[in-house]
Amino acid sequence: MLSIENLSVTFKDRASGEDIRACDGISLNVEAGELVGLVGESGCGKSTLGRTIVGLERASAGRVLINGVDVLTLRGSRRRQARLQAQYIFQDPYTALTPSQTIGQAIDEALQIAGEHNARARMLRARSLMEEVGLPLDILERQPRELSGGQRQRVCIARSLVVEPKVLICDEPVSSLDVSIRAQIMNLFLKLRDEKGLAILFIAHDLAVVRQAASRVYVMYLGQIMEAGPSASVYSQPLHPYTQSLLSAVPDPDPRIERQRRRILLEGDVPSPARPPSGCRFRTRCPAAASICASEPPVMSIGEASAHCHFAGTVRLMPAA
Ligand SMILES: Nc1ncnc2c1ncn2[C@@H]1O[C@H](COP(=O)(O)OP(=O)(O)OP(=O)(O)O)[C@@H](O)[C@H]1O
Ligand SMILES: [Mg+2]
Repeated sequence: MLSIENLSVTFKDRASGEDIRACDGISLNVEAGELVGLVGESGCGKSTLGRTIVGLERASAGRVLINGVDVLTLRGSRRRQARLQAQYIFQDPYTALTPSQTIGQAIDEALQIAGEHNARARMLRARSLMEEVGLPLDILERQPRELSGGQRQRVCIARSLVVEPKVLICDEPVSSLDVSIRAQIMNLFLKLRDEKGLAILFIAHDLAVVRQAASRVYVMYLGQIMEAGPSASVYSQPLHPYTQSLLSAVPDPDPRIERQRRRILLEGDVPSPARPPSGCRFRTRCPAAASICASEPPVMSIGEASAHCHFAGTVRLMPAA
């Protein structure tokens, strides 16, 4: 349903005039009825990728196929139509809503823009949308400030469903919410995935967030995909040293294992995307880097699980004692 091929996005840095390659040759895909995780540290390009899919940023190279149609090559109204099939859910549901509008007005407006001219049909649809996202009908009379964070995120999800999208890009949609309601919102996404067959790309900072929900995960570092594979194998046998270090930071629910957990601490900072290291992007922080890592960029290994590493699957970083 969603297929990204070799996508690159470049920004000009205002201060230095340098080119920032926020996304550099990214390929990924999400099937209908599948929730896929996209994970990586702050600044690695996750939001840029998501925003490019829905047309909020311009790609400098590559293709974005939604339901088989390359949306980057379309123009005018056909482009807008195709774009609507992918909807973006933001991290902060408060800023995504207009403070002075009631929720009913916001949904009504979205339905009008989507071309529903019959006021009664809009009212009925707004009610059924509330039901779909698990909100009581009286929410329609209220303003965003009168709602909890979780309710606001449900409203944003309802509004995104107005155009009956095929793809949802969820950009850290639970990180601003209270821990106790994160699972409820996560379950709502899973319900929509199953009932509507939505393809969901779920962006998160941390591998723990998508562990239960995602059938597959992509791990991103400095604008590139470092590892991709079914969750079961990425979490139990990570091929890439970067994934191994990320996983070592995830607390274990079992207190006995958690007490003995050792973190793999990476040295140094993430380099600037304006001046990425030669060869492998991760090499300046990789405890297993060898000379080939500086001289040659690795290619993605082939397999159900794959990694962008010269030593994919053969390195196993030992956590510091
Ligand atoms: N409009 C812009 N102009 C210039 N640089 C930008 C712009 N948007 C993003 N960047 C840069 O692109 C890189 C990727 O940013 P992006 O927001 O996609 O990262 P992210 O993975 O979503 O981070 P976070 O986890 O903090 O949300 C960063 O170096 C960022 O500074
Ligand atoms: Mg982001």
